[in-house]
Amino acid sequence: MDDKKLMKELNKILTLEHGHLGMYKNFMEHEDKEIRRAFRRFMEVEEEHIGKLNNIIRNFGGKPSLTVDGGDIIGKMFGITLNTIADAKEILKTYSFIEKKAHEGYFKFVSQLEQDAQERNQFIAEIAASNMLEAQLMQLWLDNKMQTM
Ligand SMILES: [Fe+2]
Repeated sequence: MDDKKLMKELNKILTLEHGHLGMYKNFMEHEDKEIRRAFRRFMEVEEEHIGKLNNIIRNFGGKPSLTVDGGDIIGKMFGITLNTIADAKEILKTYSFIEKKAHEGYFKFVSQLEQDAQERNQFIAEIAASNMLEAQLMQLWLDNKMQTM
C-alpha cells in the first residue's frame, strides 16, 4: 500500500470512528442503566480509537482530516438516522450492524497491511488490530444485550 492510499484509508477509518463516537456520546439519554453504563465506556473506547488514528496519521507526517463533513457521519455513510431510532432494541440492532461493519473494515485493512513486509505497515497493522478487536467486543455486547430485551 503506497503512502497516499494509506493516508486516505486512515482518514476514512478516522471518519468512521467519529461516526461511532456519535453513537455513544449521548449515552445519558438512554433509559436502561446497563446501556448507559456500557455506552459511556464505549464512548471512551471510540475516543481512544480516534486518538490512536490521529497519532498514526500525525507520526507519518499527515494531517487528520474527515472524509465526510462532521455532523451525521453514520447517516451519510450508512443511510441510517440515529436520533429517530427510539426503541432500545432497534438501537442495539443498528449499532451491532455498524460495529460488525467496523470489524469487517478493520479486518480487511489489517490483512492488506500484513501482506506488506514493510515494518511501518506491520506497526500500523498492530494498532489497527486492537481497534478491530474492540469493535468486535462491542458488537458481542450489543448482541448479547439485545437478547435480554
Ligand atoms: Fe471504533
